[in-house]
Amino acid sequence: MSQRVVVVGVGRVGLPLALYLADHGHEVTGLDVDPSHVESINAGRMPFLENGAQEVMDRVRATGRFRASVTTEPVGEAEVVILTIGTPVDEHLNPVFNALEKVLASIGPRLRKGQLLILRSTVSPGTTEYVRRHLEATTALKIGQDLFLAFCPERIAQGHSFKELPKIPQLVGALDDESRARAAAFFRPLVETVLESDARSVEIAKLFCNVYRYIDFAIGNEFMMLADQQERDIYEVLRLVNSGYPRGGLKSPGFTGGPCLYKDGFFLVDRTPFPDLLTTAWKINESVPAYLIAGLRERMGSLEGKRVLVAGLAFKRDIDDARNSLAYKAIKVLKRYGAEPLEHDPYLAQGDFAALVAQADALMVCTNHSHYQEQGLAALAAGGETWVADVWNVYGLGQVFFHAPDDLPSEPA
Ligand SMILES: NC(=O)c1ccc[n+]([C@@H]2O[C@H](COP(=O)([O-])OP(=O)(O)OC[C@H]3O[C@@H](n4cnc5c(N)ncnc54)[C@H](O)[C@@H]3O)[C@@H](O)[C@H]2O)c1
Repeated sequence: MSQRVVVVGVGRVGLPLALYLADHGHEVTGLDVDPSHVESINAGRMPFLENGAQEVMDRVRATGRFRASVTTEPVGEAEVVILTIGTPVDEHLNPVFNALEKVLASIGPRLRKGQLLILRSTVSPGTTEYVRRHLEATTALKIGQDLFLAFCPERIAQGHSFKELPKIPQLVGALDDESRARAAAFFRPLVETVLESDARSVEIAKLFCNVYRYIDFAIGNEFMMLADQQERDIYEVLRLVNSGYPRGGLKSPGFTGGPCLYKDGFFLVDRTPFPDLLTTAWKINESVPAYLIAGLRERMGSLEGKRVLVAGLAFKRDIDDARNSLAYKAIKVLKRYGAEPLEHDPYLAQGDFAALVAQADALMVCTNHSHYQEQGLAALAAGGETWVADVWNVYGLGQVFFHAPDDLPSEPA
């Protein structure tokens, strides 16, 4: 059944969802405070990279079922309102609630009887209860009777929304049965599986998904450093651990940045006297750029005056999103050692990669973009003397540190 849906916050998560909903027959308005964003969407241009999104945008615009707006009027006309605003932590790593408070203040007066309000941003435990309290205190609406409220988190991996939205089980958490039933009924035609629970269990489940992944990557990074201290390469050790062993599955190392994984653990630590596992994972992941730079420095003697090419600025493979990317941490550390960082990213900082490699004394692969894999070792073979820190193993040598051309196979792939 087609419904009028407003998605509040059409960013990396909200826009693909809004397009997906419109593509499935709903009449969707994407609401955002960023006018340039809204303008780009209404002109039919995706404001960022997301696989398949432009095609869906072209299709739904042709049906007239999708538009974007900076004003909140559409909230009053909607049957379903979905909040997908950003939920960051501040400089002290405490969750910031301002954005949620602001959005409730702006849409609150427009909410009316019979609507379903879905929280989709990642939030700290208890936020759904906070929203209920806030709305019952500031409007005449009673949750579960007049207005229906559910927490239904987004769990896609950025860049893969359209593949994952229908496949990933949709978690639906609520504080009352009627809200839960209405939210589950909304999602059932859109996804293969709906899992229902109470709001707080779902809030925690969403955080555990991300925190588990973050800790898993931290183990990969810690083991990379431990193997390196034993003068062995982690990729050889991973081959031995993971090949054919049913209890293997160790993660490879890499730069683990981005707007989500690092922060979500800090949504959980305020009540535990033992937050060490979460905070240690953060310290390990954040230390990878400095560890690799120390490794280059050891091999090169000094980085003073050396040109180091930072390859990849996005926080992960094949996207154009640089939020909380550890590449910028690498650039800061390099400058501190007196090096001259050169920057390349196929999506964020154009430039001829081969020409930059030729200028560089060292290369750090910060993002495992397929662009670097596709260029292969040929780019390095042609580039002259270069030390390489390839924590992702994009060049397939199974060596985190190597020297080109000496360590390259005689016939580069
Ligand atoms: N990016 C991901 O891969 C991902 C995956 C799963 C969950 N999440 C979670 O989803 C949420 C959104 O993340 P994102 O990456 O899409 O963030 P984002 O910054 O890309 O998008 C948020 C959007 O909300 C808009 N906005 C902020 N305040 C607003 C307001 N008061 N009214 C209307 N619009 C407003 C911003 O202008 C922005 O366009 C976060 O809680 C995040 O943790 C993100």
